[in-house]
Amino acid sequence: MSTVIKGGTIVTADLTYKSDVKIEDGRIIEIGHDLSGDETLDATGCFVMPGGIDPHVHLQMPFMGTYSSDDFASGTRAAVAGGTTMVVDFCLPDPGQSLFDAIKRWDNKSTSATCDYSFHMAITWWDKQVFDEMEAVVKEHGINTFKHFMAYKGALMVNDDEMFASFQRCAELGAMPLVHAENGDVVASMQAKLMAEGNNGPEGHAYSRPPEVEGEATNRAIMIADMAGVPLYVVHTSCEQSHEAIRRAKQKGMRVYGEPLIQHLMLDESEYFDKDWDHSARRVMSPPFRNKQHQDSLWAGLQSGTLSCVATDHCAFTTEQKRYGVNDFTKIPNGTGGLEDRLPLLWTYGVSTGRLTMNEFVAVTSTNIAKILNMYPKKGAVLVGADADLIVWDPTLEKTITAETQVSAIDYNVFEGKHVKGLPRFTLSRGKVVVEETTLKTEEGHGKYVKREPYPAVNKALSTWKDLVAPRKIERAGIPPSGV
Ligand code: URP
Ligand code: ZN
Ligand code: ZN
Ligand code: ZN
Repeated sequence: MSTVIKGGTIVTADLTYKSDVKIEDGRIIEIGHDLSGDETLDATGCFVMPGGIDPHVHLQMPFMGTYSSDDFASGTRAAVAGGTTMVVDFCLPDPGQSLFDAIKRWDNKSTSATCDYSFHMAITWWDKQVFDEMEAVVKEHGINTFKHFMAYKGALMVNDDEMFASFQRCAELGAMPLVHAENGDVVASMQAKLMAEGNNGPEGHAYSRPPEVEGEATNRAIMIADMAGVPLYVVHTSCEQSHEAIRRAKQKGMRVYGEPLIQHLMLDESEYFDKDWDHSARRVMSPPFRNKQHQDSLWAGLQSGTLSCVATDHCAFTTEQKRYGVNDFTKIPNGTGGLEDRLPLLWTYGVSTGRLTMNEFVAVTSTNIAKILNMYPKKGAVLVGADADLIVWDPTLEKTITAETQVSAIDYNVFEGKHVKGLPRFTLSRGKVVVEETTLKTEEGHGKYVKREPYPAVNKALSTWKDLVAPRKIERAGIPPSGV
């Protein structure tokens, strides 16, 4: 059974051209003119692009005393509704828990996925067992990325010595570390001070996490990665201070990647000063939303290539869950949604405003991510042999975002009222049409786990500025007597 996407314009990260695409057994088998097949999808007036890949989601994540409310079924349905055909979630071992047990838990949760998915592993504690298990996580389970939380003190946070040890282990295994870069010690002390002074509202969340805590941690992680000789991926880059550290590292020749979120590109800090407690609490996430200057810095980074991709960090909590923190902002579950809206928003406010070209749009929503996470060209490509994860993007379809009609399982949408123009007419997940003329046709369990191979050996000696390269013991003529 073959399908032909007919009459559209293919848009990849580097090319724009008119062609049909023929699909069989879940893959692209031919690209050319006047193709025919058993089934035809009309792409007249549309752009045929690689489906979006979201490198950063938390579906049914155990966090802050609850679980995020979109699971793999509702989360991936929301994803494909908005043109995203693959998500990458994070396995989170409990303290002391084997990494393999965490993978089993995530395997069980993800059986309902309606599109393909992969995992990162989080390093939430550290000892020899974790060090040892990392090898099979990479070589057998196909997870080549390890996330380190530099924030959430007393919960997920790891210290610098643990991070350095884990980064070195990543270097040995051909894996890449990821960091949630915020100085967790400073955040914890600012939280305590704000609470002691009676600032217990959601605005306290933003006050306790200024851009400096992110810039400091990003810079620290970059320096530690440089010493460990490993590339680095900085998740949810939200501010100029962090972007600046990434720019500097890139200029020096380091492979450092920055990932702004659609939320930080679209929403600003004024959300935390709304008169309505629920309004502000629903927008509590880490890092918090920033002012316009930071937003401009993120857009500029996407244009210039100093920032690599756009994610959502989709971690959706209901209003009821957000109210766990009514008298204490530190107890408001951190996280916002965006899976369904990332592509339409980036198209409308990025491509249609002239900030991004269509090719840059494909790069930052799909192709760059597939390359950085080492699954290109299986994913992120319109090429013969690639998985047929595709969107037929109709630039004339429009809607106003509202919780009333969204697919996500929560009761509000942080982008409520924003108008978008540009939506998928069709979304295909490995050749299966999961959105047809804007109607969802998903099937739970259709999504498959994607293994990712270790990286080739790169970045062994990153820093050209190092004075002392490898330790060597100096043979001396004699040593002076002990001063004691
Ligand atoms: O606030 C956020 N970002 N919640 C999800 C967990 C994380 O830090 O990525
Ligand atoms: Zn994070
Ligand atoms: Zn409001
Ligand atoms: Zn996250």
